[in-house]
This record gives sequence, structure tokens and C-alpha cells, in this order.
Amino acid sequence: MRSLIDILELSTTELDELIATAEDIIKNPAKYSEACKGKKLASLFFEPSTRTRLSFEAAMYELGGNVLGFSEAASSSTAKGESVADTAKTVSCYADIIAMRHPKEGAPLVAAMNSSIPVINAGDGGHNHPTQTLADLLTIKREKGGLSGFTIGFCGDLKFGRTVHSLIAALSRYAGIKVVLISPEELKLPSYIKKDILKKNNIPYTQTENLDEVIGDLDILYMTRVQRERFFNEADYVRLKDSYILTPKKLENAKADLTIMHPLPRVNEISVAIDNDPRACYFKQVLNGKYMRMALILKLLEVDVK
Ligand code: NCD
Repeated sequence: MRSLIDILELSTTELDELIATAEDIIKNPAKYSEACKGKKLASLFFEPSTRTRLSFEAAMYELGGNVLGFSEAASSSTAKGESVADTAKTVSCYADIIAMRHPKEGAPLVAAMNSSIPVINAGDGGHNHPTQTLADLLTIKREKGGLSGFTIGFCGDLKFGRTVHSLIAALSRYAGIKVVLISPEELKLPSYIKKDILKKNNIPYTQTENLDEVIGDLDILYMTRVQRERFFNEADYVRLKDSYILTPKKLENAKADLTIMHPLPRVNEISVAIDNDPRACYFKQVLNGKYMRMALILKLLEVDVK
């Protein structure tokens, strides 16, 4: 039995297989509509979510399965003081697979160590978000035709942005990737990721505070929200929140085939005037996330669809 806590637990072959399954689901949805009949997904969300929770739930329904769970800690026994370990043992009695989001880094790992069913990390604090990465990889594959040989810029809150951390780790598996890190000084990518992922894999990277200077070099621009809920002090958030706002004017120097991504929710980082630009791919990511979560559920439940 396998869980998915960190994206690097999947080999490149497995990532490619998940993408291939998602692409087959897109082409032949009927083939998969009863694949998880009789199976239950527990969605345990201790933090707010729209896309991740609903796409997991939609994924399970589209596989013919069922869903149970909660969408806030306050309505679970966590509010009475129950530990993550005990919650995981309990839910193992009712469901076949767990998707868990939690504000504490490492909580889904603790759940996986204590559950008898697979646990999927649906976002743990400012740490990792492997299933957003699956959505991002399918989007890049569909937009660029492959997962190697491009320059990707990550812009915004690179310190707390867990989607950035997981995507950088996944991309370290592919050839010819160049990374441009665009953030205010206070929100720079954590040094452990630079050391353990970028430097270790000899991935060329540069750091800047200025998006305008680098936008013309990028094949992909991955915008992020400043993660208000991870700040210790509201004044710092207010000062930093509008550091980068992508507008049609800013795109004047960008490549004609730039892919603009954002895990969403967007606050102010991308002007709505860009939504109809053919380069805007953030709502495609939303849909791709559902297909990749379907593929992941099938894999972890070891369901073989012929
Ligand atoms: C992201 C998250 O939860 O980390 N959202 C998502 O799952 N698509 C990004 C964010 O909240 O800024």
C-alpha cells in the first residue's frame, strides 16, 4: 500500500504513466465511470479549499465511487483535541483512501504512518502540495508538448507557496529546465530547496525582485498569491501582498507562446483583463487537476482499467 506525501515519491516513469492515464481519461471517460464502484474517498480538510477538495470529490464521483469527509477542523473531533494519528486510524475503518489538507507541515505524513489505507497530501502548511503539481505537469505537457527544455519563472510568495516547492522538485526530474525565481527579499525560495533540489540537480537558476527584467526570457510564468495565512504579522502581509500584479501592459515584452499559470485562488496577482488572453492557462490547470487526481486515485487503489 502506498500513500503520496511528497511528489518525489513518484519516479519519472510513474509521473509519465499518471499523465498518460489522465490523457486516456480525457479521451475515454466512459471507460472509467465505474472503476471505483463501491470505494470511498475520505476528504479531510483542516484548511480552506475550493479546487483541491472539490476536484478530489468530483474525481471520485467520476470514477463511480463515493465520498465522505469534512471541510473544516471545527466540525471534526479535532476541535475536541483528537490527534491526527487517531483521526487517521478512525477514518481507516470507514474509507478506502484519504485526501488530507492540514495547516501543519508533516500532518499528512503522520496520518499515513497511522492509517491502514493510502493517504494523499492535499497540501500541508507552507511545505508541499503534490497533487497541484500533478495538475501543473499535465498542463505543461498539454501546452508545451513535453516536460523538458524550457525556462520557467516562479513569481510571488516562493517562501510559503507550497505549490512552488513541489513543482520545482518534480521538474528537477526532467532535462533542460531553467528556473527564474522572482520574489521580494522576504519571500525568497527557502534555502533547503535551493540546496537539495536546484543545486543538487545542477539546475541553472537566477533570483530577482524584478519581473519586468526577466519576463521576456520565460516560456512559462507561474504566478502565486502571497500566503496571508502563513504570516505572523498582518502589516508585513499588507506591505507585500501587491508586490506583483500581472497586467496586459506587463505582458508586452513576453513571448507570444508564454504559458501563464497560477494554482489559484488569485487575489490581485493577475488582472482579469488577461483571462481571455490565449496564454492564460490557470483555468485549464483547474480542470487538469481533476483528471490527474482521478489517475492518482486509480494508482493508489491499484485499480486496473482495461
Ligand atoms: C494553493 C494551495 O492551497 O496551496 N491552492 C490550490 O490548492 N490550488 C495555492 C494557494 O492557496 O495560494
